[in-house]
Amino acid sequence: MKLSTWLLALALVISSLCSFSSATQTTAFLNCLALSSDSSTISGLVYTQANSSFNATLQYSINNLRFGQASKPKPLVIITPTTESHIQTVIYCTKLTGLEMRIRSGGHSFEGFSYVSSIPFVLLDLRNINKVVADVATATAWIDSGATNGELYYYLSRATSEYGFPSGLWANVGVGGILSGGGYGMLRRKYGLAGDHVIDARLINADGVILTRATMGEDLFWAIRGGGGGSFGVVVSWKVDLVPVPPVVTIFQVFRTIEQDMTNIFYKWQSVAPLFPKELDIRCNGNVILSENSTRADNKTVRMSFDSLYLGPASEVLAIMGEQFPELGLVQEDLIEVSYIQAMVFFSQFPYNAPPELLLNKTILPRPAFKGRSDFFKQPMPVEGLLGVWDYMFQLPENQAFLQYTPYGGRMNEISESALPFPYRAGYLYMFNFFAVTCPGLEECAEEAARMDWVRRLVAYLTPYVTSNPRSAYVNYVNVWMGQNNPTGSTSYAQASQWGKRYFGVNFDRLVAVKTVADPLNFFRHEQSIPVFSLVSDM
Ligand SMILES: Cc1cc2nc3c(=O)[nH]c(=O)nc-3n(C[C@H](O)[C@H](O)[C@H](O)COP(=O)(O)OP(=O)(O)OC[C@H]3O[C@@H](n4cnc5c(N)ncnc54)[C@H](O)[C@@H]3O)c2cc1C
Ligand SMILES: *[C@@H]1O[C@H](CO)[C@@H](O)[C@H](O)[C@H]1NC(C)=O
Ligand SMILES: *[C@@H]1O[C@H](CO)[C@@H](O)[C@H](O)[C@H]1NC(C)=O
Ligand SMILES: *[C@@H]1O[C@H](CO)[C@@H](O)[C@H](O)[C@H]1NC(C)=O
Ligand SMILES: *[C@@H]1O[C@H](CO)[C@@H](O)[C@H](O)[C@H]1NC(C)=O
Ligand SMILES: *[C@@H]1O[C@H](CO)[C@@H](O)[C@H](O)[C@H]1NC(C)=O
Repeated sequence: MKLSTWLLALALVISSLCSFSSATQTTAFLNCLALSSDSSTISGLVYTQANSSFNATLQYSINNLRFGQASKPKPLVIITPTTESHIQTVIYCTKLTGLEMRIRSGGHSFEGFSYVSSIPFVLLDLRNINKVVADVATATAWIDSGATNGELYYYLSRATSEYGFPSGLWANVGVGGILSGGGYGMLRRKYGLAGDHVIDARLINADGVILTRATMGEDLFWAIRGGGGGSFGVVVSWKVDLVPVPPVVTIFQVFRTIEQDMTNIFYKWQSVAPLFPKELDIRCNGNVILSENSTRADNKTVRMSFDSLYLGPASEVLAIMGEQFPELGLVQEDLIEVSYIQAMVFFSQFPYNAPPELLLNKTILPRPAFKGRSDFFKQPMPVEGLLGVWDYMFQLPENQAFLQYTPYGGRMNEISESALPFPYRAGYLYMFNFFAVTCPGLEECAEEAARMDWVRRLVAYLTPYVTSNPRSAYVNYVNVWMGQNNPTGSTSYAQASQWGKRYFGVNFDRLVAVKTVADPLNFFRHEQSIPVFSLVSDM
């Protein structure tokens, strides 16, 4: 855009800002877009609240319905850019009109950080920037932030069956958010985090400048691979190293209930799962079901699902399990040999033999309203501790709360705690996260307060068993109960440490230093974004 055009835009905007109301700010923002050199191409990508598609466009990737409720604040305008230039223009016009901006890729933020704010804001929704371009000869790919895990796995599989990528499990989680927080999936024990395989990126900063690894410098490049989304700029695209996968992998999913000795089997799992060969990942998912075999008057039992990926043939899995985890009682019939892409279909919550095209459907997976959180374990929980967790589970109806246990070890042990902002590597047995469904759908409901309280009480119950000082948490499972930034103005380092040190441990200080240089005016902000260090608020 030419300087003269910007000056004209500035004049118009200032004249329309006299009262600073949201309506005039919106008008000024739209005027600014209309005066930009992108006006003709961006005009069909802008949704105001008056647009009949506004609600559907907003809802499209609200993946925690707790933040889709009518009472939650909505963006003034949604923009779905198709080019980097559109993003530059949106950043420019947002700053010029004094609005805030939120960035959304897949919309899976646990606390709706990507599409809710109490301060008037525009929503930059990256859904149209979603290319996945693999270069098999160099075993690399450029992946756009607006792509989902499902699009990533699908388009990768069209290019090659020899390589995979260690991103997450659900098909409709966005690459933009998951890579920003590190990102783990079923290849974690063999290859570490998604962020460990990012080798370049295209980032647009608060001045609208497009930076790559070479021009952003190693500190900022370090920060965007795990320091959490929404703090440093808009990551448009990521260049990654692909990882080799064998032609045949083995999956299994076996269920054990309390009546089937689940408690003792799970107790053992805690110490053996982190020690298996790197090629074997057995993750556990627990919930309450009704069972004919329950010994309880209410017919409930806790059922643990042992979900596994092994990078090799079934015969090897049986041998490892017979030696290291016979308690699970795995048999040949439990094992299914599939291609890597069918395994990704399975871990994206579809039947393993379903067509991979399902990975491209962004609206097929269930969307609960939920409250979730994470913890890390360095010691196994004793049996009596586990029984207490099951008691909490029994307090809710069946299928209203979910426990997820993700084992560490393997490659995770070999990477230093400061290689990326994500600090949980050697010494951790597993990550635990759990969530409760808070309402059946989009509407507010009477159960919500009790469900939130249930989460709070289980959090307190777990205190003696999990990490402490600080109690660790995974930044991709954001939780506002740990504290949040002041809605306007600056936030002190001490205040932000309440959540920052829990997400990033020893790496938090470096993130604050990087933020202070990269975005000194704190344009990229949300409830738990990294703060700018300022002598005013920090002395
Ligand atoms: C059902 C479900 C399953 C999950 N499974 C896994 C899993 O297997 N492994 C795992 O590691 N995590 C998992 N997560 C957590 C997930 O990684 C985070 O919720 C992640 O932030 C989601 O990314 P998103 O793009 O979908 O979300 P969004 O809500 O769009 O974004 C999340 C945050 O990142 C910011 N952001 C988004 N895009 C960009 C961008 N391009 N540039 C800069 N900032 C950006 C947003 O502003 C927001 O603060 C899961 C979450 C859910 C709800
Ligand atoms: C809604 O916004 C879209 C995208 O800018 C535009 O194509 C469409 O014409 C608008 N519809 C209405 C009814 O305003
Ligand atoms: C859009 O959603 C809001 C609540 O978020 C509701 O009040 C309004 O009626 C909806 N509009 C349409 C066109 O559905
Ligand atoms: C109940 O026990 C029987 C016999 O062991 C078993 O076949 C059945 O699958 C069990 N049902 C459930 C829901 O666990
Ligand atoms: C438990 O199951 C039995 C047998 O199916 C049934 O008769 C009983 O009503 C159930 N109890 C509850 C509380 O659902
Ligand atoms: C995605 O799945 C939903 C639910 O099954 C279905 O209604 C919709 O048509 C599918 N979308 C596409 C593009 O296939």
